Amino acid sequence: MVFYMLRSQLAAFLLFPLLALALVNEQTVMGEAQTDLSSHSTQTLADFLTIEPSASIFYDYARGIGLGNRLGDDSSVITLLVPMNKAIMKLAKKPHQDKVRMDEGVVLTEEEMYNRSQKNVERWIAAHMVPVHPIDFDSQSYPTLLDGTSVSFEIVKGDPNTPEWSNVLVNKDIRIVGCKEASNGIYYLIDGVLETP
Ligand SMILES: *[C@@H]1O[C@H](CO)[C@@H](O)[C@H](O)[C@H]1NC(C)=O
Repeated sequence: MVFYMLRSQLAAFLLFPLLALALVNEQTVMGEAQTDLSSHSTQTLADFLTIEPSASIFYDYARGIGLGNRLGDDSSVITLLVPMNKAIMKLAKKPHQDKVRMDEGVVLTEEEMYNRSQKNVERWIAAHMVPVHPIDFDSQSYPTLLDGTSVSFEIVKGDPNTPEWSNVLVNKDIRIVGCKEASNGIYYLIDGVLETP
């Protein structure tokens, strides 16, 4: 089972709500004939992200913590806020790096270092996942999968002939520059990050 595998891969509890959700949904779907779960697309978030070169860094990080399967299955829906490569490259610290520099002289084993960086990535990715779809942009705030962290949306004046998402500010100053609706949710490409490593 994909989920049990995933569960063991993700040591950090941060993504547990997502996994719990996936497990619950799996139980309700299992045994029934697969009804039409897709509204517009038969392609998953993973399918779309695979062919989204401007978001390859985020997707690499997501796959690196074992989320590839999760983004490729239809058992539950999710909204992803996906920072473009450009936004990640601008960061002073990369998502796998520690927020706070550790004391000099503390020696970590390779495994400890690996575990820490995985955990940092898990937190960072979780801050870009909202376990809701669709979301309402009108002055709404949604909890992300990173405990205690929300993301806010606000519609601003813009060209009425453009899609709604193009006139939205995320966390007050981040723009949405693209969007793809998949069978298992949606992702918005954003020109910033929601959580600074
Ligand atoms: C690293 O993570 C693995 C998997 O969660 C765990 O079994 C192991 O004990 C951890 N190692 C260290 C040194 O923390």
